[in-house]
Amino acid sequence: MDTQVGIVGAGPAGLLLAHLLRLQGIESVVLEARSREYVEARVRAGVLEQGTVDLLVEAGVGDRLRREGLVHHGLELRFDGQGHRIDLSDLTGGRAITVYGQQEVVKDLIAARLDAGGELLFEVEDVTLHDLEGEEPAVRFRRDGADHELRCAFVAGCDGFHGVCREAIPAGTLSVFEREYPFAWLGILAEVAPSSEELIYCYHERGFALHSMRSPRLTRLYLQCAPDEEIDAWPDARIWEELRTRLATGGGWTLGEGPIVEKGITPMRSFVVEPLRHGRLFLAGDSAHIVPPTGAKGLNLAVADVRVLSDALGRWFAGGDPSGLDAYSDTCLRRVWRVQHFSWWMTSMLHRFPGDDPFDGRLQRSQLRYVSSSRAAATTLAENYVGLELV
Ligand code: FAD
Ligand code: PHB
Repeated sequence: MDTQVGIVGAGPAGLLLAHLLRLQGIESVVLEARSREYVEARVRAGVLEQGTVDLLVEAGVGDRLRREGLVHHGLELRFDGQGHRIDLSDLTGGRAITVYGQQEVVKDLIAARLDAGGELLFEVEDVTLHDLEGEEPAVRFRRDGADHELRCAFVAGCDGFHGVCREAIPAGTLSVFEREYPFAWLGILAEVAPSSEELIYCYHERGFALHSMRSPRLTRLYLQCAPDEEIDAWPDARIWEELRTRLATGGGWTLGEGPIVEKGITPMRSFVVEPLRHGRLFLAGDSAHIVPPTGAKGLNLAVADVRVLSDALGRWFAGGDPSGLDAYSDTCLRRVWRVQHFSWWMTSMLHRFPGDDPFDGRLQRSQLRYVSSSRAAATTLAENYVGLELV
C-alpha cells in the first residue's frame, strides 16, 4: 500500500488534515485505533474559535456547524455570587465563538472523507513507524488479523496524547515541558435546557464550576474535583447539589436539572514537546501538546497545527519547496506557547489549589475583579479566548 501522507489518528487533527490535503489534490490514508461509533460518540470539547469556524466553513465542512452551532458574543465570569459579563465581540472588533461539540465536528469530517472516497481505516492495531529519517517512511499495522505496510512520503502523528507517534521519536531528541495540576474536572452532559445563554466560568471557595451547553436541550457542566476522584463517589444527586452550591448567585438565578446522560473525569495537564518534527514525521494536536481545558483551546490548537501542516505539505508536493515544512515546528510553537500561557492563566485564576491560603484567594479575587472591570484586562481575556489571528 502506498500514499503521499500517512495519517495516524482520526480525531479532529487527523481528519481535518486529510480533508485539507484532499482539497489540494494530495492523497492520504488515515489509520484509527477505535471504531467509527466510538470516535463519533466521544464527548470532549465544545468551544470553537472564530478562526476554527472560518476554516471549517471555507473548507466546505461547515454547513451543519453554521446551522446548528450556537454563536456566542460574550461569556460570564461569576465569583462571590455575582456574574460579570465579558463582551467578547465588543472587545475584539466583532469576533465570536461558536458552541458545537467536538464529536459533531468529527462526524462532519468523517462524512466528508467517506463521501469523497478517501481512505479511512478504523480499528487498526499495533501501529508502528519506520524509516522516519529516510525519504520513504513506513507505517505498519494490523487489521482484521492481517499485517499491512503503508509506504508514504510523510507521516502525520495525529494520534493524541496517548498515541504511538511521539514515542517513535528516539529518546533524547525531544525536549518535554510539563505541568500537572493538583485537580481534575468532573464533566456531565444533562438533558435540560441551558440555564444561561452564555458560558459561565465560576470561581467558588469549594472549587471551580463551569456551565456550558451543546444545544438548546443539552447542558454541559463541569466541577473541579480531586485528581484521583472516583466517579462512583459522585451519584447524580451529589453532582447537582455541588453545582447548585458553587453556581449560586445572590439574585434569583436557578440551575435547571435533568437526566445525566454522560459523566466523566478529565485530568488537567500542560504539556509540550519540541520540536514538532522528526525527519519525515510531523506531530500535530494532542500528540504534541496538551492544555488544561479552562481556556477551551485543545481542539482549536489541533486545528491551527494542521492548517500550517497542510499548507506546508501543499508547497512541498506542488514544487518541492521545503520551507513550510522546515518552519512548521517554530510556526506552530509560537501559537502553542501563547495558548499554553492563556490556559494556565485562566486555570490559575479560577481554581482552588490544595494548600492555598487567604493571600492566594485575595489575589485571585483581585484578578477576577480587574478582568471584569478594566477594558484593557477584559480585552486580554477576550482576544485570547476568541483566538488570536497573529501570534
Ligand atoms: P484526539 O482527539 O485525541 O484524536 C487522536 C485520535 O488518535 C483518537 O481518535 C485516537 O483513538 C487515535 N489513536 C490513538 N492512538 C492511536 C494509535 N496507536 N493508532 C491509531 N490511532 C490512534 N478540550 C477542550 O477544549 N475542552 C474540553 O472540555 C476538553 N475535554 C477533553 C476531555 C478528554 C477526556 C480529553 C482526552 C481531551 C479533552 N479536550 C478538551 C481536549 C480536546 O478534546 C483535544 O485537544 C482534541 O481532541 C485534540 O484533537 P486531536 O485530533 O489532536 O487528538
Ligand atoms: C465545553 O463546553 O465542553 C467546554 C466549554 C468551555 C471550556 C471547556 C469545555 O473552557
